[in-house]
Amino acid sequence: MQVRQLFDPESSSYSYLLWDADTLDAALIDPVRNMVGRDIQLIREHGLTLRYTLETHIHADHITGSGILRSAMDSIVLVHENCRAKCPDVLLKDGDLIPLGKGKINVIHTPGHTDCDISFTIPGVAFTGDTLLIRSCGRTDYQYGDAGILFDSVTGRLFKLPDDTMVYPAHDYSGRSFSTIGEEKQHNSRLASGMTRERFISIMNGLQLELPRSIHDAIPCNLRCGLADSDEAVTSH
Ligand SMILES: [Fe+2]
Repeated sequence: MQVRQLFDPESSSYSYLLWDADTLDAALIDPVRNMVGRDIQLIREHGLTLRYTLETHIHADHITGSGILRSAMDSIVLVHENCRAKCPDVLLKDGDLIPLGKGKINVIHTPGHTDCDISFTIPGVAFTGDTLLIRSCGRTDYQYGDAGILFDSVTGRLFKLPDDTMVYPAHDYSGRSFSTIGEEKQHNSRLASGMTRERFISIMNGLQLELPRSIHDAIPCNLRCGLADSDEAVTSH
């Protein structure tokens, strides 16, 4: 499976284009609406057929490109079943396998940042959304977040993957592009081995972060796959 990491500088978000080099079937994880033109161009340049857009969760800091891509490329939108959105075509759950060409994308429910977070794995690679960031993790103070549950998702699910698994997160704010499970077990500032669940909960509950600037626009819009009300009536299916 080929993987291409793509960056949105405005929200420091990563999207990931995955494709089977033989069949040219593709999936795009966490597309950003402002970057859809770039993504469509890349998909066309490689001669790919975009089958799916996959959301690691309902984002609060940028607007998804999934609805526009569905209209433009006939892809389908896949989101976890807890997402409370009406627009997705497929609701995913833990253990689902999404076929892509000759390969499969594995779905792992990793809640805690929100209750609808999922991580996706292909052999040797984990796309961890905001559940596990490089040396950090997503906040747990809105969208049904829960610090204890995030701790369990990371230590009980993601840290059970082989140490050499590459970690591709949904964001990085310091110019880093990827990590590995072994590296995060050793060096993650909040979740490295030795951190207790109680201490982690206390750290997360004490963060007192400001809300993302666009949260009140982004969440309702992302529950419509990034479309305005008027767009959805025309394009959703
Ligand atoms: Fe997030």
